[in-house]
Amino acid sequence: MRMLIMGAPGAGKGTMASIIKEFYHIPHISTGDMFREAMKISSPVGLTAKQYIEKGELVPDEVTIRLVEERLREEDAQHGFLFDGFPRTLSQAQALDTILSLQNVKLDVVVDMRIDRDLLIKRLSGRRVCSQCNANYHIENLKPKVEGICDRCGSPLIQRKDDTEETIHHRLAVYEENTLPLIAYYEAKGLVVAAKGYGNTYQSFCEIEPILGAMHDYNQK
Ligand code: AP5
Ligand code: MG
Repeated sequence: MRMLIMGAPGAGKGTMASIIKEFYHIPHISTGDMFREAMKISSPVGLTAKQYIEKGELVPDEVTIRLVEERLREEDAQHGFLFDGFPRTLSQAQALDTILSLQNVKLDVVVDMRIDRDLLIKRLSGRRVCSQCNANYHIENLKPKVEGICDRCGSPLIQRKDDTEETIHHRLAVYEENTLPLIAYYEAKGLVVAAKGYGNTYQSFCEIEPILGAMHDYNQK
């Protein structure tokens, strides 16, 4: 299965991706997570990405596309993948089309997570993430058992630098200008399935799963 998961910042892409990857046994490739890992070790990509991410801007296309090209060459991505947060611009979408056509494979489906804007701001400003394993929490809706500590690995929770209210507004504007138009791009290819970004994520997944499976089977024929 070759899938993209799209949606505004905070729409629940990462949360939904963690369910989908288990179901289809495909790697979850989040460009945001890859950049944050690179920032932790201050690699050249990390140092470049930091300048953009902390302001809520997009990392330049050439840096992002190179990172994705390298990731797609890895063994675990040969039989499927789930991209979360990529592509985010028309150039990135076209670059992905080129990479896949050179490999003689196609995308199966694009999941578009839909949710009201007001809820996004509440979610992102209250989100806390594990500094080690990236597990997600929320100060009201999804509290860890021990305040400030990850249930899964015991590491401290932190607030992402781009989760301040001012930066969240900017990320939403950047999304609307650069990334939202890609939904029409993929709709024209008949690939988009809308999913609820609110309520129980597992239930939202169960609602769309038969459609995802059917689109995958159709593309195999
Ligand atoms: P990235 O890490 O991709 O961030 P984002 O798109 O802004 O999205 P988020 O990760 O903030 O939200 P999400 O949709 O994953 O929601 P989540 O599941 O966490 O990118 C960060 C930055 O990296 C970008 O701004 C850019 O600078 C750079 N970048 C990345 N990719 C790039 C690219 N391709 N090109 C250029 N630059 C790039 O959920 C959010 C919260 O809501 C959590 O607290 C969660 O617990 C909660 N939640 C989720 N679902 C539900 C639900 N159903 N009900 C209740 N709560 C829920
Ligand atoms: Mg995410």
